[in-house]
Amino acid sequence: MAAEIQTIAINTGGGDAPGLNAVIRAVVLAAHNRGWNVVGIRDGYDGILHASEYPDGGIIPLTRASVRGITHLGGTILGTTNHGNPLAFPVTQPDGTIVEIDRSDEIIAALRKAGVGALVAVGGDGSLSIANRLAEKGLRVVGVPKTIDNDLDKTVITFGFDTAVTFATECIDRLHSTAESHRRVMVVEVMGRYAGWIALNSGIAGTADAILIPEIPYDINKVAEKVIWRERSGRKFSIIVVAEGARPKDGDYSVIGREIGRAERLGGAGARVADKLERLTGKETRTVVLGHLQRGGTPTTSDRLLALRFGAAAVRALAEGQSGIMVALDPPDIRYVPLNEVAGRMRCVPTDSDTVLAARDLGISFGD
Ligand code: F6P
Repeated sequence: MAAEIQTIAINTGGGDAPGLNAVIRAVVLAAHNRGWNVVGIRDGYDGILHASEYPDGGIIPLTRASVRGITHLGGTILGTTNHGNPLAFPVTQPDGTIVEIDRSDEIIAALRKAGVGALVAVGGDGSLSIANRLAEKGLRVVGVPKTIDNDLDKTVITFGFDTAVTFATECIDRLHSTAESHRRVMVVEVMGRYAGWIALNSGIAGTADAILIPEIPYDINKVAEKVIWRERSGRKFSIIVVAEGARPKDGDYSVIGREIGRAERLGGAGARVADKLERLTGKETRTVVLGHLQRGGTPTTSDRLLALRFGAAAVRALAEGQSGIMVALDPPDIRYVPLNEVAGRMRCVPTDSDTVLAARDLGISFGD
């Protein structure tokens, strides 16, 4: 029988995603409605690992008033970070070398000292791996899946994804008119890391002519053929959607940064495609990188609803005595899946999925 809960903590980690505030609100209200107190850890685990740098101590009380009117707001009122992983925390030695140490015990000790009986950890792959380790070490933890990339295993969808795709689709719509007016090729680079979900869904919805995703390495000549074919059939413009993780058949990801303790930063995939296409087709080509705009702004109704459902389900799971699990969408239900089955696993676009087949049936090229 799990010990009675009096106080739970919540934190948000990794890149922000629209819907985080809705999760926080749902967790706080569902917990208070059970008579529990809630505290929030600032900036992932930084509020604990760098507590002395926070005038408020890094762990703050979350009351009903703290979460009033935040459901529709992008970002996270708790702050977040995608570096300084507490399991591999980089520490600079006197000789300048960097070693990585595991600081998870400090987190558990700080939470126990604050009277916290359980943690709701909201995040993507990295944050859920940390949550899994904390659960293995005895902390009661429930994970909530978040990422605009939609690349988490065991849940059909993550919140943030719909908002990112909706925004990218609207951008592609807008680019159509300028591309057609100037008879240009417009290359749109979207986020998604090593998965092509955002590119695929926004590309189909925005009626792109080619979609390049990491799961299907492309041959630039095939993409050029598509542009030239359109030109000959009187369609003097083309829209090419490129996932930031797209790569040529004979090449690698486009990486712009590698730092210890951080995931590698992708970027430049769109420019690489545009440069080659301009040379191969002779057509004026422009690149638009949607970047962090995809992470900002108000969450769509569908993301808000999912985030609120996930937050409420996380508290329900704790009330049922669950730990070491993640709440996951398995329509029409929310289910619990073991965190150790999610940690370290990435869900890519299946290349034989109905969505990919639909795109092919619509004449969209994947450059293969
Ligand atoms: O994982 C979310 C994401 O937005 C990816 O799509 C992107 O590669 C990455 O984060 C960007 O991270 P940063 O905020 O560090 O630039």
